[in-house]
Amino acid sequence: MNKNEAIGIFDSGIGGVTVLREILKVLPNENYIYYSDSKNNPYGDKSDDQIHELCENIVNLFIEQKCKAIVIACNTASAKSAQYLRDRYRDIPFIAIEPAYKMVHDYAYNESTLVMATKGTIESEKFNLLYHTYDNHKTILLPCIGLADIIEEGNEDKIKIYLKEHLESYRGKIKNVVLGCTHYPLIQGEIQNVLGQVTFFNGAPYLAKHLQEVLEEKHLINNKGMKATIQFIDSSNDEQKKKRFFEIIKE
Ligand code: DGL
Repeated sequence: MNKNEAIGIFDSGIGGVTVLREILKVLPNENYIYYSDSKNNPYGDKSDDQIHELCENIVNLFIEQKCKAIVIACNTASAKSAQYLRDRYRDIPFIAIEPAYKMVHDYAYNESTLVMATKGTIESEKFNLLYHTYDNHKTILLPCIGLADIIEEGNEDKIKIYLKEHLESYRGKIKNVVLGCTHYPLIQGEIQNVLGQVTFFNGAPYLAKHLQEVLEEKHLINNKGMKATIQFIDSSNDEQKKKRFFEIIKE
């Protein structure tokens, strides 16, 4: 593997852009290939076997492109398939996002907490292990079925209606919100509008730091001083997605 090779990063759609945004702050000189699997979106209600297969196809593509590291920028794929992929592809490092529930334990243990994530993440063994290890006994786990989908679609009215319907009963009762799906940071403001003043916990900045450490340790950091290049691939060739993705990156 060599320093100039790209970092592969994937999600079921464009949600992983919220992870790439954080990565670019610490690793501005890398080449990135972002894969948005919108053809198979959403991942949240798929079986473990289906997710393993989808992830393997994406990983094979990254390996063909000679990527030096792979970032799983999807909590659902990470919860279900990170270990599966690590066991099968031993030569390439996988850096996987997870809901920032440990941060609540470390920094805001006494506060009432809402974990928002897909059904797949909340039901996964990996998340349950994390939850039971760091449980603050004031936590509500909320599977947000269909939410990643409407964020992906970008329909603001649908998002507002969804949040009102599913979150309004928690208004004033919740202090911490764990954004356990990489699509959710895109609607942080809208969530705040419904819940009132809350503190958000997002795993992406920690993933970015961890990726940097992994690359440093393996002497794979690209420090040539060139600006990052980003190649965007969408499995359904959706030009609109591409446009939105690059708009969010520039924000
Ligand atoms: N961004 C994905 C996640 O972090 C969304 C999953 C889905 O497609 O349902 O879980």
